[in-house]
Amino acid sequence: MMSPASRILGTGHYLPEGVRTNADLEKMVDTTDQWIFDRTGIRERRIAPDGVVTSDMATAAAKNALDAAGLEPPDIDLILVGTVTPDMPMPATAVFVQQKLGARNCPAMDLSAACAGFLFGLTIADQFIRTGAMTHVLVIGVELLSRVVNWEDRTTCVLFGDGAGAVILGPAGGATSTDGKPRGLLATKIQSDGLLAQSLMIPGGGSVMPMSADILALKKHKVHMRGQDIFKVAVKNLYAATKEALDMTGMTADQVDWICPHQANLRIIDFAATRLGVPKDKVLTNIDRVGNTSSASIPILLDESIRSGKVKPGETVAMCALGAGISWGGAIVRM
Ligand code: UT7
Repeated sequence: MMSPASRILGTGHYLPEGVRTNADLEKMVDTTDQWIFDRTGIRERRIAPDGVVTSDMATAAAKNALDAAGLEPPDIDLILVGTVTPDMPMPATAVFVQQKLGARNCPAMDLSAACAGFLFGLTIADQFIRTGAMTHVLVIGVELLSRVVNWEDRTTCVLFGDGAGAVILGPAGGATSTDGKPRGLLATKIQSDGLLAQSLMIPGGGSVMPMSADILALKKHKVHMRGQDIFKVAVKNLYAATKEALDMTGMTADQVDWICPHQANLRIIDFAATRLGVPKDKVLTNIDRVGNTSSASIPILLDESIRSGKVKPGETVAMCALGAGISWGGAIVRM
């Protein structure tokens, strides 16, 4: 294994205060708390209030991550924002984050890999640090999914929530844990399979179906998902990506302290963890409180787990995610 080039120097997250419970949804669509909880593990999700936009949440998470890293906005060399719910199609949400942070003289761009967006961002950031081109990269996963969900479609609206998570990736600098092991991003593995692109989409509003009164009336500008198609491939690919990333480090699953999986469905998480042979008490989850926040899911969960004292410096965390694209990935980090 190559020694790690980069390390997570600080993490942060932001969740809007507004809570929408399963009981609230029972009044909106034909569903029950029991169905939602049994099938997904979700009890409630956060919903951003009117007036709050994606870059607001991203900026709040970024500020927390900068504080945790002991850095200031001018220290940032690159801003990467993983999102499928940008402020607007153009320009990138990342430049609004840059504006709101007051981070000057650095490139800022969005990347579209849906629920795997954070892991794609982490992988790209690591490359820039590895080559020496950049020192501090701000990687954000942020989604305001409540604005692109069809609140009349019970098969999707019960799943998603709003939120943002961020990390500052910087040089590993030879840092080691108390038992002498290298701290940093030990391995990442990212992958896409466009053959399944139709399984999860916002089909309208782009060049295929430019926005029109018809597109709006048919709600083609909202999330459309074939849940069963994604479910099957998620279990298989989350296992495979985590295993491949582990193999790159020469570690086995039982040597990992924590699994920090994308929070799409508790049953997917349980199946993947069982396949890896990881016991439940090593699997971090918050899906019951926040639902599926797509690209924000891993960095929110990671930051919550660090701030609560669960995940400690020197511990090893395996992250994995899969979503629209389909795109997926795994990463192994020693904190
Ligand atoms: O993060 C992005 C990646 N996305 C995912 O990973 C999502 C992967 N997929 C899933 O998590 C699951 O497929 C869902 C949670 C979306 C659905 O669970 P499921 O166990 O696969 O249910 P299903 O789609 O097979 O539907 C079972 C039944 C259907 O009724 P019939 O046809 O059996 O009569 C649905 O119409 O449940 C019905 N149903 C609901 N009932 C009550 C679907 N949604 C609801 C609902 N409340 N909200």
